[in-house]
Amino acid sequence: MGWVRTLRVQSSVTFIEVNDGSCLSNMQCVMGLEAEGYDQVESGLITTGASIWVQGTVVESQGSKQKVELKVNKIILVGKSDPSYPIQKKRVSREFLRTKAHLRPRTNTFGAVARVRNALAYATHKFFQENGFVWVSSPIITASDCEGAGEQFCVTTLIPGSQEVANSPVDRIPKTKDGLIDWSQDFFGKPAFLTVSGQLNAETYATALSDVYTFGPTFRAENSNTSRHLAEFWMIEPELAFADLIDDMACATAYLQYVVRHVLENCKEDMEFFNTWIEKGIIDRLTDVAEKDFVQLTYTDAVELLLKAKKKFEFPVEWGCDLQSEHERYITEEAFGGCPVIIRDYPKDIKAFYMRQNDDGKTVAAMDVLVPRVGELIGGSQREERLEYLEDRLDELKLNKESFWWYLDLRRYGSVPHAGFGLGFERLVQFATGIENIRDAIPFPRVPGSAEF
Ligand code: 4AD
Ligand code: MG
Repeated sequence: MGWVRTLRVQSSVTFIEVNDGSCLSNMQCVMGLEAEGYDQVESGLITTGASIWVQGTVVESQGSKQKVELKVNKIILVGKSDPSYPIQKKRVSREFLRTKAHLRPRTNTFGAVARVRNALAYATHKFFQENGFVWVSSPIITASDCEGAGEQFCVTTLIPGSQEVANSPVDRIPKTKDGLIDWSQDFFGKPAFLTVSGQLNAETYATALSDVYTFGPTFRAENSNTSRHLAEFWMIEPELAFADLIDDMACATAYLQYVVRHVLENCKEDMEFFNTWIEKGIIDRLTDVAEKDFVQLTYTDAVELLLKAKKKFEFPVEWGCDLQSEHERYITEEAFGGCPVIIRDYPKDIKAFYMRQNDDGKTVAAMDVLVPRVGELIGGSQREERLEYLEDRLDELKLNKESFWWYLDLRRYGSVPHAGFGLGFERLVQFATGIENIRDAIPFPRVPGSAEF
């Protein structure tokens, strides 16, 4: 059973390439005039895109493209395909396919991406489970802004409305006489948001169960139309108790190497496809990632390296600046020849409130893992476990301490050094498949101006 990819009708024999998504290869079905149901081919009912059921015998193939083929005894048309079917044999651009996100999984590229994405998810759980981590579900709706960047989507409650007003949500938001949102009438009684990160919740479980991880959707209202940003993306966030930044970097390295090795070993056919059609040499590059040590350097050394670079950057570099994608890519692609690079000890002013202050008073125990083409794949840190330091930092940043009462409690009752990181799952899919645009690494991308499908 599967969907017809191509059909070639000759006078005495018909070839139908069928794919059911279980692997990249099609099953070539060879059918003579005597096959039961041949009339459906003859009358043109079976076309590209149709779903069919075929029965026959698997035989060695006469052709050179496949080892085996199916000699058909019987064929049944399950669902015919309208001639307007947009995915015909000719190659279509990935931009075009984004407008057909409901049908693009029927192409080789998107089928392969979906299978590798699945393998990466499986390997993620396998890695953490084998290493004694407990999977924790972090909430999607939250009142806190973990990263403090204000890039949140707000969740408001709509008053149940009649059919006529159903399409006008603004009219259904509870409002005061002055036309402002009336939070007292709201479901949560105060503003709530879609989570930007499950980290703060993961920390609560790490300081009870030791090593934990989350793996779920996160949301950022970042208005950046780039090939590495999504408004909805999946994040993997391990949190390690009784651990420091060195342990965190070791965990990130072991995890990345494990999942890369997993897809190289378990997705051979799809990886060969990416190697030929999407990014030449990706198999060799990933093999190196799985086997070689990652480069490590401090932010200060990275800035020095960028200042010495002959390359002209669009964004000038100075100590204290946030590294831009062009800088990250220069470091991993050019300075270190495609090897993943871990940069640590960033200036505290460009990082989130929860990161542990280093003794120099200027930097925090943060680390980012940069990889070629993608840039930042992982962002992590050792967390500030000292109550007074954390309170001072919240004050310094004018953050509302009261709203963090539960987070501060973790530092009041049996605080421990702990560390963790977040990995953007779609960036990992990009890295592992060579797919250039993050919008092609998730089934239904959510980006500025588009929430279709
Ligand atoms: O560096 P970020 O913002 O770190 C955190 O959210 C921490 N709370 C993680 C932690 O320590 N538990 O995000 C982590 C990763 C980035 O390195 C990137 O891979 C990915 O999440 N990411 C995005 N991926 C796709 N689209 C976006 N808009 C992303 N923003 C971040
Ligand atoms: Mg980051």
